[in-house]
Amino acid sequence: MKTITIGLLGLGTVGKGVVTLLQKQAAKIARTQDFRFKLKSVAVHNCAHHRNDNLPAGTILTDKVTDVVDDPEIQIVIEAMGTIEPAKVAICQAILNGKSIISANKDLLATAGDEILPLAKTAGVDFFYEASVAGGIPILRVLSSSLETDQITQITGIINGTANYVLTAMDREHKDYATALKAAQELGYAEADPTNDVQGIDATYKLIILSRFAFGQSLSLKDVPRRGITTISPAQLISAGQLGLKVKLLAVAKEENRQLFSFVGPAAIPASEPLAHVNGVQNAIAVQSDALGETTYTGPGAGAAPTANSILSDLLATGDDIVKGNCGREFNSYRKPVSAKPLTAAPQQYLITVEGTGNLLSIISSIPTLSWQQQATGRNYWSGLTPVISRDALEELLITLKRSGQKISYLPIANSWQPVLEKIEE
Ligand code: HSE
Repeated sequence: MKTITIGLLGLGTVGKGVVTLLQKQAAKIARTQDFRFKLKSVAVHNCAHHRNDNLPAGTILTDKVTDVVDDPEIQIVIEAMGTIEPAKVAICQAILNGKSIISANKDLLATAGDEILPLAKTAGVDFFYEASVAGGIPILRVLSSSLETDQITQITGIINGTANYVLTAMDREHKDYATALKAAQELGYAEADPTNDVQGIDATYKLIILSRFAFGQSLSLKDVPRRGITTISPAQLISAGQLGLKVKLLAVAKEENRQLFSFVGPAAIPASEPLAHVNGVQNAIAVQSDALGETTYTGPGAGAAPTANSILSDLLATGDDIVKGNCGREFNSYRKPVSAKPLTAAPQQYLITVEGTGNLLSIISSIPTLSWQQQATGRNYWSGLTPVISRDALEELLITLKRSGQKISYLPIANSWQPVLEKIEE
């Protein structure tokens, strides 16, 4: 049986998960594949911090990335360092040295994927990154294989485990924002700096990767309008619940008429939709496509074991390619540039919440032009659902309401958006 030698960069939550699962499943891998893996070296920032980590006997712990990426014996490098630098330099060096790459690094793939993935193709090595989107859900393989012959029209995802964990804990357990975020950090779900999780940046990176697979379109960060969850209040969550809605951080990309509308931010989802019931660290991606209609993929979006499982599935695919001499095929070869548009500009329905101690009823009745669809009231808040209105009408409404001096917030209602399509010349 052939032995494939691998190296690992990073021994945080994900790296440790890979080491553990690799040891746990070694016997099964040997039974189902005609190769086995040997973890030769692991590069970390500070070896002293990892002396007690349970590495396989004989595995070298080093603080030099070059001990992994320049080692001629290593055929596959698993990058679990996260963030863009120095991971980018390490990966490029490993590719130039003819090594296949497996990465969970959404920041890097979203921002520099167009630059580094062609390097792998040219070098004739594999580069897989299933774990970069939605943790344990094998969504990229589904999009690149099972749905390859279908026409995808919309992707709606809950793709940040930390944000979903925080919103669920605030809604169901009435935890405050800071306590809920601390718990997500302690469980190993959050990024080292959770800003990317709570500001929607991590979800935007994942949406950019998903959009390449689903629509062939390479969006950039500036193409996707983004809001975070840091200002979501208990009153918004309670009043949404009273109106049959759940608040989730959504990532949406919708293609119509060669235009790709996108947005990342908190939205209120009708309880009748499957995504409304995705709680805690769970992620879900609802895919709308011509042949299948709607399919929804759910599973754990973060955490050591789920992420490691996605990495190991990439490892098996790469091992198989190495043994068969098939390395160099692209994970995703779909390209179809379309024009990027903000979904936030589309007419849609909104949940408006007014919070404060003023006379809420008189504030609301001061807006006679709008026929509220449904309303919810509590001691210190009032919430109402608008009809589908334009962005300009929303801005006017917010200005009028803000004159009351109360705290005013708004959330779009998922799937109420009605993109205005530009005429495309054939
Ligand atoms: N911080 C990420 C999340 C980890 O919470 O979803 C998985 O990408």
